[in-house]
Amino acid sequence: MSKHRVSRRQFLNYTLTGVGGFMAAGMLMPMVRFAVDPILKASEGGDFIPTPQKVSEITAEPTRVDFKFEQQDAWYTSEVSNTAWVYKDENGEIVALSPICKHLGCVVDWNKDKANPDHFYCPCHGGLYTKDGTNVPGTPPAAPLDVYPTKEKDGFLLLGKAEPRKGA
Ligand code: FES
Repeated sequence: MSKHRVSRRQFLNYTLTGVGGFMAAGMLMPMVRFAVDPILKASEGGDFIPTPQKVSEITAEPTRVDFKFEQQDAWYTSEVSNTAWVYKDENGEIVALSPICKHLGCVVDWNKDKANPDHFYCPCHGGLYTKDGTNVPGTPPAAPLDVYPTKEKDGFLLLGKAEPRKGA
């Protein structure tokens, strides 16, 4: 008898290990895919979110625009509410500013501080910004308000992801 002959016990071991491994891989692959899939999916960053604001109704006076969108956070989808301060500048260009104060993240309001009319005002620590979102020196915020990229579709305003103002 050859020394390399496979015994019945070894044959069974090999076969069961092979079949077991194949079955385990078959069960694990969907689980691994489920775990990793949301991470591998293309990010939806750069998408523009529709708002209820008609472009034709935007004036030179900053107006608060509230909008909602679905946020995909790995496996969890949630509805998120957000806000922008929107107006048309002297060239008729739409400006959309984030309301999040660059000091500690409170929410700024337009024209609410009687001592500083026509400014964005942060009630938390008295932060001030001019109409274009520039932080007023001598008040706590150290940077201008973030800016939303804008688009128009079917007469309505769409907003991208707010980002720090260029050159700031
Ligand atoms: S959070 Fe706005 S001034 Fe401090």
